[in-house]
Amino acid sequence: MRVFVSLLLKNTSPKIEYYSRFSPSPLSIKQFLDFGQENACEKTSYMFLRKELPVRLANTMREVNLLPDRLLSQPSIGLVQRWYMQSFVDLLDYENRKAEDPQVLKDFLDLLIEIRNRHNDVVPTMAQGVIEYKDKFGFDPFVSSNIQYFLDRFYTNRISFRMLINQHTLLFGDDTNPALPKHIGSIDPTCTVADVVRDAHETAKTLCEKYYMSAPDLEVEEFHTNAPKPIQAVYVPSHLFHMLFELFKNSMRATVELYENSDDDLPPVKAKVTLGKEDLSIKISDRGGGVPLRKIDRLFNYMYSTAPTPSFEPGSVPLAGFGYGLPISRLYARYFQGDLKLYSMEGVGTDAVIYLKAMSSESFERLPVFNKSAWRHYKTSPEADDWSNPSREPRDTSKSEFKA
Ligand SMILES: Nc1ncnc2c1ncn2[C@@H]1O[C@H](COP(=O)(O)OP(=O)(O)OP(=O)(O)O)[C@@H](O)[C@H]1O
Ligand SMILES: [Mg+2]
Repeated sequence: MRVFVSLLLKNTSPKIEYYSRFSPSPLSIKQFLDFGQENACEKTSYMFLRKELPVRLANTMREVNLLPDRLLSQPSIGLVQRWYMQSFVDLLDYENRKAEDPQVLKDFLDLLIEIRNRHNDVVPTMAQGVIEYKDKFGFDPFVSSNIQYFLDRFYTNRISFRMLINQHTLLFGDDTNPALPKHIGSIDPTCTVADVVRDAHETAKTLCEKYYMSAPDLEVEEFHTNAPKPIQAVYVPSHLFHMLFELFKNSMRATVELYENSDDDLPPVKAKVTLGKEDLSIKISDRGGGVPLRKIDRLFNYMYSTAPTPSFEPGSVPLAGFGYGLPISRLYARYFQGDLKLYSMEGVGTDAVIYLKAMSSESFERLPVFNKSAWRHYKTSPEADDWSNPSREPRDTSKSEFKA
């Protein structure tokens, strides 16, 4: 397989080099929407995507090639590289094919679906590659921070790639969902946020009850100046659902485990939806005991989880375990210029806040660009810490004098 990858790489690398010199063109939700609403033109979309998709692929493939050889040589990473290479080559086929030919448009649409399916398992396969590497070579802080930097960019690129593909196939293909007539591709122009909150809670609750026999209830509160209308967003509901579902799973697990040996009722998880001029914010608050400040940043690390690693069983959905819930959710939030932050009070509980842009004209895709600064990240070793660094971990607080 390694031979196949290097052969393909040899033949296509001038093209990868060529396309990677272009920066990706970020689109705003408003632009996606305007394009989809005003007699969306398949030819225009084709002309844009046949260049933009290879540009986005090439940008990320250049970064993959900067990863340490020992990581690149892991079988799962090779497999992912092969998928990317194949999709890139497939797209190059359309460099000179005319948009006026309906067959070309049809073939292109079929290709996009094929590419989307080919890349379905990129996230777990890449995760597997990182595990393989860590098992063989152990933990190296420089490589680990590079992996973190890389995966954030690589997965963002993937989110954006799928967004472009989905818009095209939903607008021009047969896979439009008749139950969602007001959707423009994957965007809901009037997405009632509290409904998505309830949906995500319900789904997480079913999962939680399956593992723990019980689950905390939900309390929703909305706040904005133009009451009484429910708060709506122009957004991709599946992205919002993804983030909320992950937050609910985490809050539920923390709550249920904290109350495992208690006769008290489980405290509900609270959701607060607010709308300001700039931000639409959604806060999910639990009373699950919280996380110490020292560990908060670590929760966003790929491969950090306090749950036992679940097996990759097809069809089974674990409640927790891969450690990808928070980092990937934050990427979804940041993708359209929002963010996801955790505020925790150890001993009490955690607030997780999703920030979205209130205006769809400000929700521009936030995309990684392959350039000199990105290159430098992989090639320069970190400098010595310029703050003092205590060498020992804090004492176990269960034995500390601060214990109430
Ligand atoms: N609300 C919370 N309260 C307490 N701990 C939390 C909370 N949210 C996250 N954590 C901690 O952060 C860790 C990482 O969370 P994350 O969602 O990224 O991964 P996970 O839940 O372990 O696995 P999965 O990928 O299935 O979500 C969790 O294992 C848990 O220890
Ligand atoms: Mg989780």
